[in-house]
Amino acid sequence: MSKQHISLAVATAVGLGAIIGAGIFVLSGTAIALAGSLSLAVFVVVGVISILIAFHIAELASLMPRLKGASYSYAYEAFGSELGFITGIIFYFGYATAISVVALGFGSYASSLIGLSSIYSRAIGIILILVLALLNTYGINRAARVDSVLVYIKISILIIFSIFAIYISLTKGFFHLSNFSITASNLSIVSLFSAAVAVFFAYTGFQVIATFISNIEGGPRIGAKAIILSVTISTIIYCLVALSLIMIVPANRFSISVDPLSFALHYVNAPQYILILIDIGALIATASTTLALIISSSRVLYQISADHLLPKIFRRYDKNKDVPINAVIVSAIIGIIMLLSGNIFVISAISDFGFLFSYITSVFAVVHFRRVRRELYSNEMFKVPFYPYSSIVTAIAILAFMLGMPREALDIGVILIIVLLLTYYTLKEMERKKVIRVRLFK
Ligand code: ALA
Repeated sequence: MSKQHISLAVATAVGLGAIIGAGIFVLSGTAIALAGSLSLAVFVVVGVISILIAFHIAELASLMPRLKGASYSYAYEAFGSELGFITGIIFYFGYATAISVVALGFGSYASSLIGLSSIYSRAIGIILILVLALLNTYGINRAARVDSVLVYIKISILIIFSIFAIYISLTKGFFHLSNFSITASNLSIVSLFSAAVAVFFAYTGFQVIATFISNIEGGPRIGAKAIILSVTISTIIYCLVALSLIMIVPANRFSISVDPLSFALHYVNAPQYILILIDIGALIATASTTLALIISSSRVLYQISADHLLPKIFRRYDKNKDVPINAVIVSAIIGIIMLLSGNIFVISAISDFGFLFSYITSVFAVVHFRRVRRELYSNEMFKVPFYPYSSIVTAIAILAFMLGMPREALDIGVILIIVLLLTYYTLKEMERKKVIRVRLFK
């Protein structure tokens, strides 16, 4: 974002723009279907862990405000180009894959709103990615401006949904304590972890603030505040929405569907206008998050190439519009390929793997800087509270999430790490040979 002096409110809104999307509008139903009313606890626990992760990103962002690659840049600075490259590409892959999840969420809501069969969801998702990639190439400022207006609308619609649901549950007799009862089928560790995977996806996206922290009014400390605020506000909104869903529909009635909010409203025979409002909210939320993900992912890819860890084709930059054109095209292509490749839950788990990997390197980066680069710290910087205990808890929680992921996501993640290691050394070797050739023929 080229614009200087971004206020705390706008920075927080941009973070919320990237966070609130398909996770709450689509995957919340999957989480409740998998964990029953315990999904409420999952929303709280994953929210708290996300706040802990946000503390680490906030510390690193306030320590290195000029770097634009978020977790990638921190891994590069702390551990060098090898781990930087691997973290960067996996982080990027997480972002690019998230594009497909959210666009598919848009496609599902759009096809149900228009009355089309769900087989059109993917086609609509692909069209959305193409349109938004095009909008992005018109300029970062225009795209970001569109996004920051939409964020207020989607938050308002979620709050209206919660107020409506709580009101109707208390006044029309839909609220029963039994809605929250836990049945034996809800108690498996595997289903709890699967629910956590879906919920974790809902909280990702806040790293976008770290990519423009040096432009935030009041300095990196205020930027750090924006990161933490955006995750905290999302936690409150998500818990409120999950609670209101279960207040109107017994937890065991949810199935893995793509439009849980509409399902809940149909269950209580809500008036048509509120159903349309929620559908519009879902469309706005998923479209604006897709846009934010295209912007953020392309900037990470650009940064990796700008650090000479990828061929210069990814570095093509339109300075007037502040857009890395080729990186935007690559993100759109990966988004489309992933969208065609599996169901929304599995794709979101693959995306989670990318984010979790980047988060764990960020936690270790904090430990590294605190131990060996103490001179970089000043009193004005934001620091992770209760360090080192908070870092230990965060690292253990992230590792537990990774181990509890669906098999497909773990397999793809491990294969990706191996391929990246091979690519890194091949690129290095090619670079070395080029340098030797240049020297020989000079
Ligand atoms: N957290 C974002 C979403 O839920 C990626 O759509």
